[in-house]
Order: sequence, then C-alpha cells, then structure tokens
Amino acid sequence: MANGLEGIVAAETVLSHADGERGIIWVRGHAIPNLVAQGFEAAVALMWEGFAGEGLTRARMIEALGEGRVLAFSRLGDWLPAATRREPLEATRLLLAAVRDASTPAQIAAALPVGIAALIRSRNGEAPVAPDPSLTAAADFLRMLAGKTVEERFAQALDTYMTTVIDNGLSASTFAARVIISTRASLASAVVGAYGAFTGALHGGAPGLALDLLDEVAKGGDNVDATIERKLLMGERLMGFGHRVFRLRDPRADMLRAALLRLDPNSPHLAFAKRVEQAAVAALERRKPGRRLEANIEMDAALLLDAIGLPRAAFTPVFAMARAPAWIAHALEQRRSGRMIRPASAYVGPTPEA
Ligand code: ACO
Repeated sequence: MANGLEGIVAAETVLSHADGERGIIWVRGHAIPNLVAQGFEAAVALMWEGFAGEGLTRARMIEALGEGRVLAFSRLGDWLPAATRREPLEATRLLLAAVRDASTPAQIAAALPVGIAALIRSRNGEAPVAPDPSLTAAADFLRMLAGKTVEERFAQALDTYMTTVIDNGLSASTFAARVIISTRASLASAVVGAYGAFTGALHGGAPGLALDLLDEVAKGGDNVDATIERKLLMGERLMGFGHRVFRLRDPRADMLRAALLRLDPNSPHLAFAKRVEQAAVAALERRKPGRRLEANIEMDAALLLDAIGLPRAAFTPVFAMARAPAWIAHALEQRRSGRMIRPASAYVGPTPEA
C-alpha cells in the first residue's frame, strides 16, 4: 500500500506539471526559465488567468497585488501585536488565519509580503513600513523589510527565486489546499491549511534546515564525509536532498545557483555547499543504492535567500509568499470541479466482538 499516495493521480490540472525523470516543470505550458524572464507578477497572471480573472497581465497583477498590500497594511493590527512574540514560522500562520474569508485572491497573496516584513521588523523593535503599491512584490517586500529602497539586484534575485519556485505539480501543500476547498470551505481557509502542510521539515520547512546542515557539517571540520555518515547512522534525514518526484538534481537548483552567482560571485558558502552535496549524494547512494536521492532545490534556495540578506527564520514564510499564488490557483481550479475529495482507507484494526 502506497502510504504516501505516490503515483496516485488525485487531480487533473492545467496549472503545472513536474516530470521527475526528465527534470522538467511546466507552468501552464511554460518552462520555468521563460517565466523567470517575465517576472513573478507575469507568472501569477498566467496562473490565475481564467480562475481569478480574465485578460490578466503583469501590469494588472502589479496593480492588484499593490492594492492588496495597501489593504493588508491597514489590517496589521488584526494579528501583528499577538504574533510578534511568536517565531516567524508560527506567526505567519497567525497572519494567514487573520485573512478574512471574503478576501480576493490578490488580497490573500498580498497579505504575505506585508505581514512577513512587518513581523520581522516588529521582532527587531522596528515599526512597520507602508507598502509602495507601484512596485513588484519582491522589490516592495525588501523595501518594507529594510525601511528603504534596496538595490535592484537584490529585488531581481528575490523575484527570480519567487518565480522559480512558484509551482510544482501536486505538492503536499497544494494537495491540502485542494482538499480543503473541495469541502466548499473559503479560499482563505484553503491557503492557511496549505501553509500548515507546507511548514513541515520534509516540505517547505526545509530551506533553513539545509543551511543548518551546512553549519553542522562545518563544525565537524574537514571531515565532511564522516559527519554526513554519522547523521545518516543516527537515522536523520539530510535536509536539501531527495524528492518525491525528482530522481535527478532538481532542475531549478541550477537556476537559483546562477542567480546566487550573479548576486554574489564570491559567495563564501558555495564551494563548501558543493562539497557537502557531493558527500551527501554519495552517502545516500551507498545507503539506498539505485534510489537516486539527489539535491533538491533547498540548499541553493537557502544560499540565495541568505545572500539577499533574509534571516534564516524567514526562509519558509518567504517560500510561502512565492507559493501562495499557486495554492490559490489550484484551489480555484479544484472548486470548479465541484467534487469533494474524500478518499477511502483500508481498515486494518480489530473487528467487534461477536
Ligand atoms: N536523507 C536521508 N534519507 C533519505 C532522504 C534524505 N534526505 N531522502 C530520502 N531518504 C530515504 C528515506 O528515509 C527512505 O528510507 P526507507 O526506505 O529506509 O524508509 C527512502 O530514502 C525513501 O526515499 P524516497 O521514497 O525517494 O523519499 P520520499 O518520497 O519518501 O521523501 C522527501 C521525499 C520527504 C523530500 C525526502 O527525500 C526527505 O525527507 N528529504 C529531506 C527533506 C527535504 O529536503 N525536503 C524538501 C523537499 S523539496 C520541497 O518540498 C519544497
């Protein structure tokens, strides 16, 4: 029995396709590098077309998400005071839980950049900075976080990251969004539920943990292979490696590495990350011969987010900020089908006494 539902087709979608054998991801028929060239808002317009509006364009998306950020800023008082004491991972759940049921897709997606920036500032004792609705989500997020306009190359790097990770077939969080909306729950509920599924270490919770792995291996000195082996012997998972779908190095990892090198050609961590990747892939192959456990996107994602200057605790919330438009699109697509998702289980417990 496939406990992880591997290989089970649970939805028909026009939104995205991940082919793990060929290392391909398509978003509405477009390859990721083409999306990256157009930018995040153009990718959102593409994903939402026909589901959250008609004739959507990058310009219209910049406008709608900008308006959403202005509204989100006016509602910070709904959740920020209570959330500031919590870790960003949990505080972001409170932020999404405070999003109102009547919110539009753009208002839901826009709550994340405003909320995450305000939260990080608030945890540092700094007041929130109002959005500039004329900017892209990436540029405005970094501006709201820093309290001043950041260099274009940082905004460009974050935009590249957000577009690269925008969607990836039926990931666990996307499936959760589809299950929730299929019961006729609100779109806002689908997004907060998807975020809950996303936060786990095996899914969207991984990028910060991938950097933790680098730090831990670095503490072991030159003995990279021995540290990796010890972790596997202790039954630990190597964060940033393996994927349910991809059986080769995640194709998006190279795109993020190229973005890192454009941003920081002398990245101090990259050479060491490559050494750790080599050791990890070899150790996983020894442990699971033929299983093809390769690097997923998380190590390169984490190095890029770190180079942009984001705190490690914000990596997963920022990843969610990039992925939320896909949760929304998938939920709206699922809602159209009108069919509640309710699989069966095989009962293996005791039978009642006769
Ligand atoms: N470290 C150690 N062992 C691993 C790893 C890993 N990174 N990945 C897989 N394995 C082992 C599993 O423990 C399992 O062993 P078992 O058969 O003895 O139980 C075996 O390899 C199964 O491999 P798969 O079936 O290929 O893995 P699965 O599809 O179940 O899991 C997952 C995929 C959850 C991503 C896994 O590879 C993992 O835990 N990776 C580390 C966490 C991580 O980086 N997550 C981010 C994924 S990308 C994303 O979601 C955004």
